[in-house]
Amino acid sequence: MCGIIGYCGGNPAIPRLLNGLKKLEYRGYDSAGIAFFTESGIVTVKAEGRIANTEALLRGDYENAVSVCGIGHTRWATTGRPSDFNAHPHRSGAVTIVHNGIIENYKELKAECEAAGTVFRSQTDSEVIAALADGYYRENADPVAALQKVMERLKGSYAVTALFEDRTNTVYGFRRDSPLIAAETPDGNYFASDYIAVKHLTDTYFLPEEGVVAELTARGIRYFGPQGEQRAPAPVTVTESNRDDGKGDFPHYMLKEIFDIPEAIRNTCRDHVLEGLPSFDDGLLQRLSAAGRIYIVACGTALNAGKLGKGYIERLAGIPVSCETASEFRYFPPLYGKNDCFVFISQSGETADTAASMRMINAQGLYTVALVNTPNSTIAREAADVLYTRAGVETAVASTKAYNAQGALLFLLALALGMKTGRVSAADAARKTGELTDGVPAAVRKVLTESARIRELSHRFCTAPSCFFLGRGPDFFLAEESSLKLKEISYIHCEAYAAGELKHGTIALIEKDVPVIAVISGETIRAKTINNAAEVKARSAKVLIVTDRAVPEERETADAVFTVDCPAEELFHLCAAVFFQLFAYHTALLRGCDVDKPRNLAKSVTVE
Ligand code: M6R
Repeated sequence: MCGIIGYCGGNPAIPRLLNGLKKLEYRGYDSAGIAFFTESGIVTVKAEGRIANTEALLRGDYENAVSVCGIGHTRWATTGRPSDFNAHPHRSGAVTIVHNGIIENYKELKAECEAAGTVFRSQTDSEVIAALADGYYRENADPVAALQKVMERLKGSYAVTALFEDRTNTVYGFRRDSPLIAAETPDGNYFASDYIAVKHLTDTYFLPEEGVVAELTARGIRYFGPQGEQRAPAPVTVTESNRDDGKGDFPHYMLKEIFDIPEAIRNTCRDHVLEGLPSFDDGLLQRLSAAGRIYIVACGTALNAGKLGKGYIERLAGIPVSCETASEFRYFPPLYGKNDCFVFISQSGETADTAASMRMINAQGLYTVALVNTPNSTIAREAADVLYTRAGVETAVASTKAYNAQGALLFLLALALGMKTGRVSAADAARKTGELTDGVPAAVRKVLTESARIRELSHRFCTAPSCFFLGRGPDFFLAEESSLKLKEISYIHCEAYAAGELKHGTIALIEKDVPVIAVISGETIRAKTINNAAEVKARSAKVLIVTDRAVPEERETADAVFTVDCPAEELFHLCAAVFFQLFAYHTALLRGCDVDKPRNLAKSVTVE
């Protein structure tokens, strides 16, 4: 979270810093700012709100400012509310910094600096980095040594870039548990918290090791270890990278990305289907199929996709699967064994809790597989094996096409594991593969054609401040994802319940016209969930049923029924998810919300 950019070169820095920040804005957009060297010293311009606010200030006061070196930041607030003061960069004495991450011991460090006379201007944890660096710099006038000492004092996670007042046109950078890359390009030299900011300039970058201070000038980048010794990190060459094609004719990225879903599924499956059958590395299948249990670890929507995967793998391959919330897993892990395997799912490949959970398991020598959408991301790099979803760049904060691609890949993996464990015949695998690769995209396209009706339903149902989703088994897993989607972009309070659980307390909240949306598929539990829908209808709730087959009892119970045709019962959820993504999208628009950048959120959650 938070985007960082740094530039030194022979070209104007200000437009480059702003351009970099715009590419990184998905990481946070509470406030933004830049600091740059001018002939009269370092100038800092920053403002609460989107980058446009900082640009407006620059136009007014710094129209003709000339600079070839600076740093920039777009913030997702952790410590200290979004405000002009809390916006980065922060300055203390000779040192100006931007920071991504969380300094866990900032209170004690701040007290120490205050005792030494530093006056803090912000409520952030980050400002203490500038204060400490300034203190150490005064002692020995050596920026690298000062920053090494700072690192020794900091607890937590950080990527930092820093300017020193009298080290003109030089940027320093260092990191721990947070991404920061350095790149030498024909346009000049850059730091960035994500390769995406420099992708248009180079396919090679460096990832400074933890404990190293990188020094960036127009001439090049040098790396210094803890004793000041020079290091030479290996370059990372990007062989593949997602391409951001913009939002085309769509009014929002989210809508465009929902319409990308058929292609995202096809592209994802293309890598893993050979002659009509699922195809994965045999070593990977060997290890997963021999596992005592597979743990799927992820956050948010990726976790919800993992839950669909649990259903697929258990049913098709007969291997027990547990789904774990990464932020819990890293501190309260279940009792896993040495024969267990671990699958980490992440669209961004940078989610802090997921990455930390994976490191914990890697450190124990257990087998890890990453299922990620972003090539070269941290989680992709550090897992023992990696499987890529090919959804393409996902820009809207609400994850949509990544979910469907993750579900599709997990379904294929489950089929392959089912063949390996002897529970799925080649003929069945071939049929199911076809249902996924051809049937699901076709079914999704049909849902997309019904966007206008879905908008009408969303306007009819989402009029209350609260909304409940019900389902059983995999229907419940989709209910959870649908609830998350609606709440995160429309700000309506939503909860998902296993349908039978509602009457154990939550039904007390059901009153006239509270929307209740029931997900119903398959025959085994159809009657049960219909009964649960009837229970809330009897209490005057407004009931919408989303189903694979509208039976008369559903029509009698609900105020409205939406049918999602799907190629097979087990693939219903991948198709019906699209109904709920559009439903959330239209609801958010109706309520005047910023669909692509919902409040308080960021696309890549790199703090815990
Ligand atoms: O990049 P990741 O898939 O690891 O992200 C996980 C969650 O942060 C993400 O899915 C989040 O819940 C989205 N805002 C959901 O739409």
